[in-house]
Amino acid sequence: MARYPLINPKVKGFLHGGDYNPEQWLDRPDILAEDIRLMKQAQCNVVSIGIFAWAALEPEEGVYRFEWLDDVLNRLAANGIFALLATPSGARPAWMSAKYPEVLRVEANRQRNLHGQRHNHCPTSPIYRNKVREMNHRLAERYAHHPAVIGWHVSNEYGGECHCPLCQDAFRAWLKQRYGSLERLNQAWWTAFWSHTYTAWSQIESPAPHGENHIHGMNLDWKRFVTAQTVDFCRNEIEPLKQINPDLPVTTNFMGTYPGLDYWQFRDVLDVISWDSYPLWHRESTLIGEAVRTAMIHDLNRSLGGGQPFLLMESTPSVTNWQPISKLKRPGVHLLTSLQAIAHGADSVQYFQWRKSRGSCEKLHGAVVDHAGHANTRTFRDVSEVGDMLQKISEIAGTSPEVQAAVILDWENRWAIEDAKGPRNTGMHYERTVISHYRALWELGIPTDVINMDCDFSRYKLVIAPMLYMVRPGVADRLRAFVQGGGTFVATYWSGVADENDLCFLGGFPGPLRDILGIWSEEIDALYDGESNRVECCPGNILHLSGSYKAFELCELIHAETADVLATYQEDFYASRPAVTVNQYGEGVAYYVAARLEDAFQHAFFQAVVQASGIEPVVRSQLPAGVSAQVRTDGALDYVFLMNFTPVKASVQLDNRVYEPLFGTVPENGHVVLPGYGVSVLKRPHIASASYSS
Ligand code: GLA
Ligand code: ZN
Repeated sequence: MARYPLINPKVKGFLHGGDYNPEQWLDRPDILAEDIRLMKQAQCNVVSIGIFAWAALEPEEGVYRFEWLDDVLNRLAANGIFALLATPSGARPAWMSAKYPEVLRVEANRQRNLHGQRHNHCPTSPIYRNKVREMNHRLAERYAHHPAVIGWHVSNEYGGECHCPLCQDAFRAWLKQRYGSLERLNQAWWTAFWSHTYTAWSQIESPAPHGENHIHGMNLDWKRFVTAQTVDFCRNEIEPLKQINPDLPVTTNFMGTYPGLDYWQFRDVLDVISWDSYPLWHRESTLIGEAVRTAMIHDLNRSLGGGQPFLLMESTPSVTNWQPISKLKRPGVHLLTSLQAIAHGADSVQYFQWRKSRGSCEKLHGAVVDHAGHANTRTFRDVSEVGDMLQKISEIAGTSPEVQAAVILDWENRWAIEDAKGPRNTGMHYERTVISHYRALWELGIPTDVINMDCDFSRYKLVIAPMLYMVRPGVADRLRAFVQGGGTFVATYWSGVADENDLCFLGGFPGPLRDILGIWSEEIDALYDGESNRVECCPGNILHLSGSYKAFELCELIHAETADVLATYQEDFYASRPAVTVNQYGEGVAYYVAARLEDAFQHAFFQAVVQASGIEPVVRSQLPAGVSAQVRTDGALDYVFLMNFTPVKASVQLDNRVYEPLFGTVPENGHVVLPGYGVSVLKRPHIASASYSS
């Protein structure tokens, strides 16, 4: 484990700052000057600039105005503030939509949108692609070597889909490339069903509410195509930037687990992964649920970059204005949740936005500088406190955790599960299920990667695959090799059902995973909301699990073939049938959990599995409920983060390693007593987790 290079050699330590939209204030030079002064006061060293500035940069076709941006970037550079310079494709000037209607997006109902809003373009339109290239080329020519600029913020939150004639043609071309012949496409899409056989490529249309939307293979391919077309659009944006300065890194800001795009497909075109985090803090009486979900997405973004630190590109310094309820962050929570991003591998804390707009739909969204216009606000003090904290822990930038466990969260699998029609059309809850597995590791303080099924499993000791309904070609073989080689694999109900075209496996579920898991799944029982069964642990089971746990929503009826039974159902006609099994396979083991079980089971089960697979927690002690322990390392030093997501004080017992305080609560007598929402960052010598024993 060594350090990763920071985003740009000019940067030392962490980035702290936010989206900056000076084009809204060009008639107020006093405000622009004050911005710089306040940025320095809040210890901000970066802005994302120009994100929605196309109309200010090209007010008329072919008429460019860069002087204002020159001024702002020069002023930033003179004051030691860096810029992530955006390409403005997320929104376009009205003149363009008026002159070239093909740039406007067509919805699934085949209606073309009017000009307006943002993220409202066709990703295929050659005119839009050329306009974007031209703009990006000019930006790169002028700024790719500017002293303030440290990277490109390409577009903004790519999303949505276009069903225009150009996109239909591109979809057909993509299908031709994928299948080669209509015969193979018809086979993959199982079109003999309901007489849906295609006899000409021109007959194929993207899914529509008033047309075809029942061919599952087609729905899946459309979503794949939308991702491919968006990645290609992104590549088209990046080319002119790289032509001028290949060393300037590019990123685009992702939206967590946004369902519309398979973010894994962007890895080859981006240098750095970044995302925008907007949890519903304080929705529950504690922050725990949101903290777990946010932690998982931070880990996903780190995993998307192969372990490299990511950027927290946006978060709100106080509230959003688009969530159902905009509750204020309680004192301490801004620092805690900003540090959480760092703990999971972010090299930045950035905000939307620097200064509140006066008008339009985000005028009431939280920002570092309020309409009051000065630094004497709670939010500004909270942000300055984060700036101060990032200075104090700056040596951590560039480090990353050493990870032995991974949870699979796979976009194509999720698309297929959600489209499957059965067994619970009121909600299969794929994401929630992945979170409930991730949560068990979070509670145990186990650093975890969040990967897709194409990732390399061999680097982990434990791979958890909640509802691996789809198994793409090669995946079962890689899992087989992983378990044979000594790995621990955990699978659940509703796995090994369909292939990459959403065609069910013949010969018994879980299809190609059957020999690894040593079970045959014959039926699955879907329970109505509020119904439940119970699962009881068998006496003397190898994990020493005991007691009985609630099962709900999904209970699979399985046969143990080569597997041993660890727990059985207690109720209904399948009482005493296996519910949890373990299969010894080669040097490793594969567990199957056949029912959706309550969190208490998840905790007990994974505690035992983690111990049995020799995985080291961050701190060798039981963490209090709601306290998270994470670690980043450079191979010589570990940086341990303890974070209390509850409003009441919590005491963490440290293990026998030598800990040195770096920030926050200082240990006393081998304990760290965290106040409500309190944090502590500690340093200790690194011992490879594989070889550590107390
Ligand atoms: C998104 C966008 C920003 C802004 C924020 C508001 O993340 O990227 O431009 O609209 O939401 O929360
Ligand atoms: Zn289109």
